[in-house]
Amino acid sequence: MKSSELINIGSKLLREKKIDSHKLDTEIILSHILKVKREQLLIREKEISHKDFNIFNKMLNRRLNKEPIAYITNKKEFRSKNIYVASNTLIPRPETELLIDPLVRKFKGKNPFFLDVGIGSGCIIYSLLNELNGSRGIGIDICNKAISIAKINLDNTNVGTRANLQCKSIDQVFNIKFDLVISNPPYIARREINQLSEDIKNFEPKRALNGGNDGLDVIKKVIYKSKYILKLNGILALEIGTGQYISVTQILKQNGFREFKKIKDYKDNIRCIFSTLL
Ligand SMILES: C[S@@+](CC[C@H](N)C(=O)[O-])C[C@H]1O[C@@H](n2cnc3c(N)ncnc32)[C@H](O)[C@@H]1O
Repeated sequence: MKSSELINIGSKLLREKKIDSHKLDTEIILSHILKVKREQLLIREKEISHKDFNIFNKMLNRRLNKEPIAYITNKKEFRSKNIYVASNTLIPRPETELLIDPLVRKFKGKNPFFLDVGIGSGCIIYSLLNELNGSRGIGIDICNKAISIAKINLDNTNVGTRANLQCKSIDQVFNIKFDLVISNPPYIARREINQLSEDIKNFEPKRALNGGNDGLDVIKKVIYKSKYILKLNGILALEIGTGQYISVTQILKQNGFREFKKIKDYKDNIRCIFSTLL
């Protein structure tokens, strides 16, 4: 069978399951199997072997079951790097990329020591270490499996030696001072998890989504702790959920922080807050 025929079949099956990205997803699966860029697949027709056809069927069935494409291919691009992902970590989101630019500008040429709270796949800690040459970072997560996945993304890279990964909660960080604390914490209110799309609620780890009753449980912990572990003039960079801006700025103020920058996401929601101790 030819690649274009297989793409048409796969795309039709996904469309019948009301998956909007049916064509793109089919192309991503097939290009992943054939180890070619998606663009190449579209330019040059390929003959599909029996073995690849069977692999394609298995992967397509997972997508028909609404499993996110990043878990099927075990990768997601984040700031131009393919991050390895597996079911124990949140899939890196484009919104999270927005956290990085202002920090790279702020700390360029300096050698910041930072803490990434809730590293998941390690996409944030990797990006900061990669884009800030002299930086060093500690990454923590309460999930051992997330730590193992983040290790895969950091080991054997040219930044791995500047990272220290530890399985612990933010409550357990003591006696250390950072130039920057950064976090994309779980921030969905518990009761809202059921309203998320099937891709998310059935496959992404609840631990990475669930922010407790009002979605603010872990955000509060990070803010409280940052008071004690940030150097004077240190920066706290937080990703927050839709509609949480007013509550989070209040908590920041109550804890002595002053916001100096905020960034909206592609849907015009305030998504990132940067603050410093007064
Ligand atoms: C929304 S995910 C973010 C993952 C990754 N940083 C990213 O941006 O894709 C939040 C992560 O925080 C971790 N986490 C939850 N509570 C935590 C806590 N109290 N201390 C440290 N990490 C925590 C979860 O295990 C999860 O991996």
